[in-house]
Formats: sequence, C-alpha cells, structure tokens
Amino acid sequence: MRDTVLQISDLKTCFDTRDGMVTAVDGVSLSLNRGECLGVVGESGSGKSVTFASVMGLIKKPGFIANGSITFEKRELVGLDPTAYRKLRGKEIAMTMQDALTALNPAYTVSNQIIEVLLAHDDTLTGSRKAKRKQAREQALEMLKLVGIPSPESRFDDYPHQFSGGMRQRVMIAIALACKPRLLIADEPTTALDVTIQAQVLELIAGIREKLGMSVILITHDLGVVAEYCDNVVVMYAGQIVERGPTHAVIANPQHPYTQGLLNSIPRLSDLARRIEPIKGTVPELVNLPAQCRFMDRCTRARPACKTHIAMQDCGPEREVRCLFPGTPGGGDV
Ligand SMILES: Nc1ncnc2c1ncn2[C@@H]1O[C@H](COP(=O)(O)OP(=O)(O)OP(=O)(O)O)[C@@H](O)[C@H]1O
Ligand SMILES: [Mg+2]
Repeated sequence: MRDTVLQISDLKTCFDTRDGMVTAVDGVSLSLNRGECLGVVGESGSGKSVTFASVMGLIKKPGFIANGSITFEKRELVGLDPTAYRKLRGKEIAMTMQDALTALNPAYTVSNQIIEVLLAHDDTLTGSRKAKRKQAREQALEMLKLVGIPSPESRFDDYPHQFSGGMRQRVMIAIALACKPRLLIADEPTTALDVTIQAQVLELIAGIREKLGMSVILITHDLGVVAEYCDNVVVMYAGQIVERGPTHAVIANPQHPYTQGLLNSIPRLSDLARRIEPIKGTVPELVNLPAQCRFMDRCTRARPACKTHIAMQDCGPEREVRCLFPGTPGGGDV
C-alpha cells in the first residue's frame, strides 16, 4: 500500500497586485510517497517556488491560497494556525530556499542559525538552557561536518557572507536537515553552483535521503538533474502541471510539446552536431488568462481546438498530460 507523505489537491495561490489578480498556481495537484524523490521542473515564473511556499505556509499578503487542500501525513495544512505551522516547519518539513544569501540571516553567525533551529525543535536536548545550548552546539558542528564544510570548527562562528556560494548552500542544507525532517523541499539547491559542487550537493542530499528515509522534492531547471536523482517528475508551465510521470518514461517519451521543448534545449555531449532548439516566445502574463491551452502561442501543434480549457488526461502507466495532441515525434533521451 502507498504511504502518501504529501498530497496537494487543486491548489490555487494568487497575488492581488496593482496590475490585477496574478494566479501564480492554478489547480496544481500532486502526491509524494514516503522515501520518494519528486522532481519539479519548468521555466522561470512557472509557479514552482510559490507552490511549495504554499506548502510551507509562507504565502503572505498580497498573496493568499484561494482554493485547494495540502495534506502532510494526512494533516490539513491550508488554514493551519501560525503556532502549529511554526512547530511543523523546520522539524517535520524543511525547505532550502532558492537564494542562500538572502535566506540566511546576515546578522547571525552560521552556528547561531543552526543552534536556533535545534533549540526551537529538538526534543532530545535536555537539562538547563545552558546545557541544551551546549548539546545543540555539538550537534550543529556534526551537521556542518555531514554537509562537508572543511574544518567546521574554525568556520563555525563565521557569518554567511564569509562563505562561498557553494558553502552557503551547504549551510542551508545543514540548517534544513538539523532536525531530520521527514520531508525536504530543495528549491534550486544547485543552480548558482559550478558543476562539481553541484554534483557534491546533490549526492549529499541523495545520501542523507537514503540514510534517513526522507522524502524529497527537488525543484530545478535542469532535466539532467531530474534524470539522475528523481523517481518521478512533474513539469510546470504558467502555474499548471502540464505533464507528470515516472522520470525515465517522461524523458524517453515526452508527451507535451513543452516537455519536448525543454529536452530539446539541453546540450548533449553525445550529439554535438545537433542544434539546440530554444522554445520561442515567453511564458504568458498570469493575469486574466483566457480559458485555453497556456502553451498555445508557443506551440507548433496548436490548432483552433486548443482554445478551450484543457484538462489533464491519462497517457500511459502512471502518466498524465495536459494536451489535446500529445505524442513524441522521434522520441528523446538525455
Ligand atoms: N509576492 C508576489 N507578488 C506578485 N507576484 C508574485 C509574487 N511572488 C511570485 N509572484 C509571481 O508568481 C509567478 C510564479 O513565481 P515563482 O517564484 O513560483 O516561479 P518559479 O517557477 O519558482 O520561477 P524561478 O524558476 O525563476 O524560481 C511569477 O509570475 C511571479 O511573478
Ligand atoms: Mg523559484
């Protein structure tokens, strides 16, 4: 039987802006099983971060969740009161933010930021406040060792700006993992890093996932990363999921023209003669969108029939696509 950790159903998250109502996430549904790694891909502005900020209870005015349900281990999170959310966040679900420099507090040392999380959430710390602090300090040092900060004793009391970009990402992961959460949401953990550090950070997350039996959501622009680390993948476009399925099946045989476009824009070492084909055009404004396929204006397959609301439809085992004319011309691989 499936052990569902996270279930998002028909989530709609909006921002009430001067230009009108921006529907950043429009009817997103997904579920994640225990121990699974789910990749979430899509170009900038497709609603990846807003979807998972909604899960973390981090949508603030002018933003709001207009509709839908989010359950974590069968517990409803939409409408959860702020105190209950604070207990959950960091301890049971942790998220590493896209931009480590702005997510870390510049006024506190790295050690203080990890210790603070442990003091807030770790029930295994015992004794007086001073004793708890000492234990938390030891654990924090262990965490920094675990994420591969070289000579952590000497770096422990440095401030975030004294670390390189890769080190800051590791510190964020250390903070996120400090309380051994059951779900880790990693928002673009490696986008700002060079390729070798990128691989190290991803291997680190994969290793800890295995060790702790943690479930992981990996948000990324990079389908290569998804191919290597994720069991399943969802592809987002303009606030909606347009394709989902087991990673190997989606990559070998993408059904949505947008997924195919993403795959065609990846350079491949095995085929240097092939021209990279960027997807023409840009993501539509998310204000007052008409009821039609959102990819229509960029799609070579678009027909008049696409000018209607398009629902997700089955397209293979455990697979769905939001397209009236799905299919793979010529197949694909990464
Ligand atoms: N506070 C806000 N006010 C108004 N609009 C917002 C706000 N936050 C996000 N949005 C809009 O929501 C949409 C989705 O943004 P989101 O950050 O989820 O994209 P993303 O897929 O994570 O992109 P990226 O890959 O660049 O991180 C964007 O159009 C963005 O402009
Ligand atoms: Mg984002």
